[in-house]
Amino acid sequence: MRIALTVNGERCEADVWEGESLLFALRESLGFPGSKNACEQGECGSCSVLLDGKLVCSCLVLAAQAEGHEVVTVEGLASDGRLHRVQEAFVATGAVQCGFCTPGFVVAAADLLQRKPDPNDDEIREALSGNLCRCTGYAKIFDAVRMAAS
Ligand code: FES
Ligand code: FES
Repeated sequence: MRIALTVNGERCEADVWEGESLLFALRESLGFPGSKNACEQGECGSCSVLLDGKLVCSCLVLAAQAEGHEVVTVEGLASDGRLHRVQEAFVATGAVQCGFCTPGFVVAAADLLQRKPDPNDDEIREALSGNLCRCTGYAKIFDAVRMAAS
């Protein structure tokens, strides 16, 4: 089946099969490999995107469900050639090691700061609770979110 959707402000079309995930379509058909495929079970958050402004695991959304909707991936957060402040903060604080989890954390943190510009630590912890990182121990990721908020 053919689907049409908006990704990072651009109208896109792709041929997908009925059971194909939005994550697979983004990475393999639509040219947006930023969202990562780690578990494909909704457990790790590495595939996080915004679907009509709502944070979702794109591995749990069918590509067909995105027909006619708006998706923002990690590639869509930068604007006018400048990184999003969350991306800048991840770089500045050294919150990246292997980087596999990073796109998901960045999208989730950007979503948090959009909803809550000055979150406390519990709110940061809750907002990022769906994202797993095997490398950093999370401390620098929290530093990055605090820096981006300030
Ligand atoms: S790949 Fe989607 S939650 Fe892990
Ligand atoms: S930096 Fe490696 S999983 Fe998070």
